Amino acid sequence: MRASITGVGHFVPEKRLTNQDLEQMVETNDEWITTRTGIKERRILDQNKGTSYMAVRAAKHALERAGVRPEKVDLIILATVTPDMLVPSTAAVVQEELGASRCWGFDLNGGCTGFLCALATGAQFVESGRHQTVLVIGADKMSAIIDYDDRNTCVIFGDGGGAVLLERSDDGKSGIDDYELHLDGAGAKYLYVSGGGSLHPPTHETVDQKMHYVHQDGRVVFKQAISGMADVSGRLLERNGVSAETVKLLIPHQANYRIIDSVAKKLHLDPEQVMVNIQKYGNTTAATIPMAMSEAWQDGRLERGDRVILSAFGAGFTWGSLLLTWTMDR
Ligand code: UT7
Repeated sequence: MRASITGVGHFVPEKRLTNQDLEQMVETNDEWITTRTGIKERRILDQNKGTSYMAVRAAKHALERAGVRPEKVDLIILATVTPDMLVPSTAAVVQEELGASRCWGFDLNGGCTGFLCALATGAQFVESGRHQTVLVIGADKMSAIIDYDDRNTCVIFGDGGGAVLLERSDDGKSGIDDYELHLDGAGAKYLYVSGGGSLHPPTHETVDQKMHYVHQDGRVVFKQAISGMADVSGRLLERNGVSAETVKLLIPHQANYRIIDSVAKKLHLDPEQVMVNIQKYGNTTAATIPMAMSEAWQDGRLERGDRVILSAFGAGFTWGSLLLTWTMDR
């Protein structure tokens, strides 16, 4: 039995933060941001709202497109690094607001690879026959953990949410075909938020030292992201007998256009085989892939039977790729 995607949706807040806005906030400029990252603007959620606000709306969008009522959902897996609060899980908030009255669920932290970790996990429950309807969400309010005085990070990140519904594949054999995921904690020192957890609980000192914000060594992450995403994607395509020409779409994590472009070139993919929407949203961490998938579907770039490869790299380090066959009809 295969798990397949039967609904996909996304949500972004209205408020835009443009490169011109950032020019007023830190020493940067539109030209630097555009050429180094490909980003033109990002969306920012209201301060008084949490990640669940976007997760719920993305999930409703996916359920509507699948034609499935919330009460049918068996399991909610929410990938995020910005939960509404530490306890309870944001999945619990989403469950209640959706009215998904007969499910269980949990949050998962896989950094920018979180959505792929959640998708691979959700697929196991459907494939084993244990569950029939699994909601997989990736959502992050990065603006809550970004230092808008730090030009190394504030130009990159934004807020958003995306979701897919997983059900049994109708033909029994197409859907989530294969995946390969990795975790290497040696990378932890290059991308982290050190304050607010059990090791460094919040104190005046952790706030003064800006320990609740994202810190990143961009150059190290950049290099590792290209090799990690390209190597795993290449292996996955090869072992499944999928040639570069037969890939309909690579939907990569949207962290930096130069990373996406290098990965695509290493895989011998043409630009029309690559989904890019980073210019509009920046890096929304766990949300980039389901948001991009939802827009690709909306734009008519995906048809039943298409081979699609998803790939991501992020904090941990975590990285990996997932190969699927598209199973949604128009
Ligand atoms: O999604 C999770 C994984 N994260 C990623 O995949 C992000 C990976 N890394 C990147 O995308 C890039 O490394 C960044 C976009 C973060 C930075 O780009 P870069 O080309 O690696 O720049 P850099 O850090 O090597 O900095 C080059 C120069 C430096 O100045 P000097 O030392 O050469 O004088 C920086 O201080 O650019 C400077 N700089 C900026 N200048 C204008 C750094 N940030 C900015 C800025 N505006 N916002």
